Amino acid sequence: MNTELSPIDKAKFVAARRAADLVEEGMRVGLGTGSTAAWMVRCLAERVREEGLRFRGVPTSRRTAELARDLGIDVITLDEARWLDLTIDGADEFDPDLNLIKGGGGALLQEKIVATASDQMVVITDAAKEVEHLGAFPLPVEIIPFGWPTTQALIEELLVSMDVMGRKSALRMNGDRAYVTDEGNHILDLHLSRIGNARQLAMVLNQIPGVVENGLFIDICDQVIIGYGDGRVETRDINEGTVSEDRVDFVEDANLFQDI
Ligand code: A5P
Repeated sequence: MNTELSPIDKAKFVAARRAADLVEEGMRVGLGTGSTAAWMVRCLAERVREEGLRFRGVPTSRRTAELARDLGIDVITLDEARWLDLTIDGADEFDPDLNLIKGGGGALLQEKIVATASDQMVVITDAAKEVEHLGAFPLPVEIIPFGWPTTQALIEELLVSMDVMGRKSALRMNGDRAYVTDEGNHILDLHLSRIGNARQLAMVLNQIPGVVENGLFIDICDQVIIGYGDGRVETRDINEGTVSEDRVDFVEDANLFQDI
């Protein structure tokens, strides 16, 4: 068993552990998707084992559902939960207003629905994902397979009138086939370099008929917890405007790291 983590994994881990401490007895919690969210699921499972914490988790993808169930977390659907106390998820980029790009892992649709159905959304991340302006990370847009090249053409045409630096888009692939989301859709990744008005872009993209949802999360995230490889964590809160700094003890725990 190799428990030696890279600095980036340590950063993700400490952010995840700090966020897992926010979960309280009886809560309904949205469980995000991606490598950082997977750490959070492991940390929560550890709290279930060690402290007897009882909560119910609503996963945002099949991957997360499988991981959470395997680790002994009580998993329910959003249909059952209806509304959530808290969602904890990763992100691909966040800006000073805590607006996000998400969907690098292909789960943006369920992630956005679950985050929007939550009293609070907390994003866990490493510092490399902080940007002044969103857009360096390609923006994922979930589209239905029917007529997708037409949808792509409409999106590229729309981008001509938008405040963006690039306009190229690419159908996400899985080997030699189009990537298929948990909802049976495809993803277009928009290479925009810099998005001048993310709020406007998020709204107009969704006006195109073949677009299901886009990866811009505007006014959804309440708090970002940034982890560092040396164990420091920084918390930024959009409502309180606070910035707090702290440290999470990094003890390499065989239970948490056994599947790494
Ligand atoms: C999944 O669709 C994404 O929104 C992820 O939350 C995002 O890509 C972050 O993933 P990592 O934690 O693996 O970087």
